[in-house]
Amino acid sequence: MMSETGKPISRIDGRLKVTGQATYAAEFNQPNMAYAFPVRATIAKGRITSIDDAATKKEPGVISVISYKNALKLKPLDMQAQAKAGAAFLGENLPPLQDNKVHYPGQFIAVVVAESYEQARTAAYKLKVRYAVEKAATDLKAELPNSKKPTKLMGEEAQVNGGKAATPLATSAHRVENTYSTPVEHHHPMEPHATVAVWEAADKLTLYDTTQGVGLTGAIAAYFFGLQQENVRVIAPFVGGGFGSKGLWLHTLLVAMAAKTAGRPVKLALTRQMMQTNVGHRAATIQRVALGTDTAGTLKAIRHHTDTYTNLTEFFEPSGKQSLVLYKAPLREVTYNVAKLNRGTPTFMRAPGETPGTFALESAMDEMAYQLKMDPVAFRIANHTTKDPMKGHDFSSEFLVDCYRIGAEKFGWSARSMEPRQKRNGNYLVGYGMATATYPGGRSAASVKVSMTAKGDVTVMTASIDIGTGTYTVLAQTAADALGVPVERIQVKIGDSRLPAAPLAGGSQTTASIHPAAMEACVLLRKELAALAIADPSSKLHGRKPDEIGYADGKLVLNGDEKKTDAYADIISRAKRAEVEACATTLPVSGAGLTVPSALCTPREIPAEQNSDSKHYAFHSFGAQFAEVWVDEDLGTIRVKRFTSVQDVGRIMNEKTARSQIIGGVIFGIGAALMEATEYDKRWGSPVVRTLADYHVPVNLDVPPIDVHFIGKADPHISPIGARGIGEIGITGVAAAIANAVFNATGKRLRDLPLTPDKLV
Ligand code: MOS
Repeated sequence: MMSETGKPISRIDGRLKVTGQATYAAEFNQPNMAYAFPVRATIAKGRITSIDDAATKKEPGVISVISYKNALKLKPLDMQAQAKAGAAFLGENLPPLQDNKVHYPGQFIAVVVAESYEQARTAAYKLKVRYAVEKAATDLKAELPNSKKPTKLMGEEAQVNGGKAATPLATSAHRVENTYSTPVEHHHPMEPHATVAVWEAADKLTLYDTTQGVGLTGAIAAYFFGLQQENVRVIAPFVGGGFGSKGLWLHTLLVAMAAKTAGRPVKLALTRQMMQTNVGHRAATIQRVALGTDTAGTLKAIRHHTDTYTNLTEFFEPSGKQSLVLYKAPLREVTYNVAKLNRGTPTFMRAPGETPGTFALESAMDEMAYQLKMDPVAFRIANHTTKDPMKGHDFSSEFLVDCYRIGAEKFGWSARSMEPRQKRNGNYLVGYGMATATYPGGRSAASVKVSMTAKGDVTVMTASIDIGTGTYTVLAQTAADALGVPVERIQVKIGDSRLPAAPLAGGSQTTASIHPAAMEACVLLRKELAALAIADPSSKLHGRKPDEIGYADGKLVLNGDEKKTDAYADIISRAKRAEVEACATTLPVSGAGLTVPSALCTPREIPAEQNSDSKHYAFHSFGAQFAEVWVDEDLGTIRVKRFTSVQDVGRIMNEKTARSQIIGGVIFGIGAALMEATEYDKRWGSPVVRTLADYHVPVNLDVPPIDVHFIGKADPHISPIGARGIGEIGITGVAAAIANAVFNATGKRLRDLPLTPDKLV
């Protein structure tokens, strides 16, 4: 049988999606369901002094009005206790409606529950709230003098070699130092956030929630409501995009509170306007990058300082991350100042850190190459590193130089001239630019269960999520190969916290984490089937040793004698079993080590030797991005005309879904480069870009042909499967490649995203 893994097969859930049969959170309507609509703060900072709900309560259909005055008391924040319960990873540290304080405009301060959505929404607008207003922090630059230097960044040291680059930079023969800035960006997944909350009993809760992690959402809800984790079930079979915005946000707790108070199932769906404020964003950054080289162009030091802000979380935009991984400079200094703003809380957004960070570092690399009169590709190859510069470990598998070379060839890089303004096409100045892409290769613990019926049908089960990435499809491919069963006979069940635990679908780690467990579960299932066959006198494999038995085409086969077979279905039928199942847990290798909160299957066998490589290798993906831009000299408009992306992400599990991930990432990067920005009113602190209509993202005409190539070599250390993640790396380096191409076209260096026409003319 041909291997299914790697084939560009179309999504097995594609038909369900395009025919409207795939059910999303807001579509899980319940009998006797009521509707919740939140009321949001209209000030940036202060206290609520009074709430008058008389008019609200008079509106037709209103069931309850909940504010801090009458809200259910939730368990208070306690980071240590939350961490123990797997409930630390909250979008913002603000259990809803617990006091009268306001921390940002748009904060949920009340919720109205009514018989219909329209009634709840109308009544919500009638709530009269008075405040005592305090002076709010609304402007990053103004708050920088009050900023802090955080010591920790997701468990790692935040400040690296502070002050140490000054001397090597001062003595470098060549130096560039500039400030790069990036705006607030919003995720805006196609499916807005929504939750349906159902209390099955006083201590038993079911949440239909659009989330990137059913286990995580369940653990957090259990923690704040004081429930047993097994009594909270979270269901999310389909999720319409997330990009980091679908961790746990407060509306999920709010609607569970509302359902408890109303004694009925309640639905809450956020409006697009609420998604500008209540489910995170990428914070703005101001980054100062300095590079120093000797006369030959060998890097001596990299310094990367970021000014940014946060609000009600420890998280801040880690835009120095790639500056600890790329290039062979002997010294790197990476530091952060983090202010606090009264603005909806920032969070993870596709390649958090690397997206703004590669814009700064890779623009600076281009500026240095130009100063050195070196080709930007040659400059990067000359400073390439095969080891993690901080840890000194070899990368587990690394083909970045091949990415540069293949990219340069496919793109036609040799036609680029070093000097800007050399290429024209009518009214357009034409430029070429490139940049490096990089993202960590994470792999967390995961459990997968596989069962097979007496008919030979297979079900693969894990509490993972498909946020549009292709999880369903690729899991079926892995199981098909590991069992020798066609993809069509495999059903995949995910998106339910009752299933064996899987990590959050974030950090580009889903494929790398769940596939080793899926493969192991299939191996265990085959062992179980082999044991049944060996013990059965009517089997052709009776009395054989387990290691004499192989498999193919839905059968166990005696090695070296293809006539001696026993079909899986026959083995199970003769054993008079309805089904045979196996469950495997595999350990983390690398990455953030996000805990797996809900139940792991009882591991019958943990292949620990698979995981020993974590101590000896650094796990990273790499790539090269190439852009051609056309700049209208009169209007200052920039068009990306074509784009080439070459990615080294380990083994490719499905050529089609993998390509789609990179194309999506590059489009996301074009948005960040040319148009995306959320502006805020400095007086009131609220966003003036208030809806998706105001928030500009690329449309078809903005998206050029995107040529994607994969190195495709399996990573021998991350897992026996060899796949690293692919969700986020596609966006990294894109904005720098475009800005570098704009310099090549026009001779103007733009260091402030997005590259809008006003900055060119
Ligand atoms: Mo991603 S920003 O880890 O969902």
